[in-house]
Amino acid sequence: MSHKPRYAVFGNPVVHSKSPQIHQEFAKQEKADIDYDRIYADIGAFAEAAAAFFAAGGQGANVTVPFKLDAYDFVDEHSERALAAGAVNTIIPLGNGRFRGDNSDGVGMVNDIIQAQGVEVAGKNVLLIGAGGAVRGVVPVLQEKQPASIVITNRTHGKAQEVAERFGIEAVEMDKLPAAHFDIVINGTSGGLSGELPAVAPEVFARCALAYDMVYGREAEPFLQFARQSGAAKTADGLGMLVGQAAFSYSLWRGFEPDIKPVIDYMKNV
Ligand code: ATR
Repeated sequence: MSHKPRYAVFGNPVVHSKSPQIHQEFAKQEKADIDYDRIYADIGAFAEAAAAFFAAGGQGANVTVPFKLDAYDFVDEHSERALAAGAVNTIIPLGNGRFRGDNSDGVGMVNDIIQAQGVEVAGKNVLLIGAGGAVRGVVPVLQEKQPASIVITNRTHGKAQEVAERFGIEAVEMDKLPAAHFDIVINGTSGGLSGELPAVAPEVFARCALAYDMVYGREAEPFLQFARQSGAAKTADGLGMLVGQAAFSYSLWRGFEPDIKPVIDYMKNV
């Protein structure tokens, strides 16, 4: 049996997860030797699979679709970020069979925007499109960076209003967004998975310094292309967010903060 510290990502499906490669790059930076596996769990069997992993000595886990809510229920305590998101993507064992849940998605995105994309959030007007778990998770982390304003818009306006009320930001209906007002526009809807664009007017991007999609690769392209054609100076998909969230998880487990930029570049080419 291996005596390396053992980590894993749980998902269904999980075979295409890039997390093992990303975490091995971080381990190289730390000059550490770790195991990082993909673990497939059946729907409804997450808790059992996670318990078995930790009973066998697992030292930390990431959790991806569709288990972020199961993970939220599995842990004994939650970080502020996990509470805000209502979802857990990072599990930290506390000993004695107890676990802490965190959510590294918001930190991952904000670090990508500021460190890797070189775009300041402080003093900027930010538009968030979408009102699901992905967007809820990033709002409190964005707020910490003191933007001038955060506006949220969503296909179903009532959901945007709920999120706005919870965090003290402003909800605006999609067809009433002020033109040329936003410096950073972030798409956190799952529409891109089916090739669909959120129904925002092109004028929304007129003075946009960065249009960002939380998903990466082909699924981000329709939104980013629309943003570019509408005047966005720069666009970025969520690959950096993926690396950034992994880096924050890694630091929570190991107390080592990886440098995300070289790993983002590496992941673009694998
Ligand atoms: P996640 O956890 O990934 O955020 P979710 O909670 O199901 O997933 O939320 C999905 C988000 O994408 C919602 O904001 C949803 O809008 P509705 O609240 O109106 O359902 C948005 N979304 C999904 N498909 C969309 C589409 N085709 N056009 C616009 N918004 C879409």
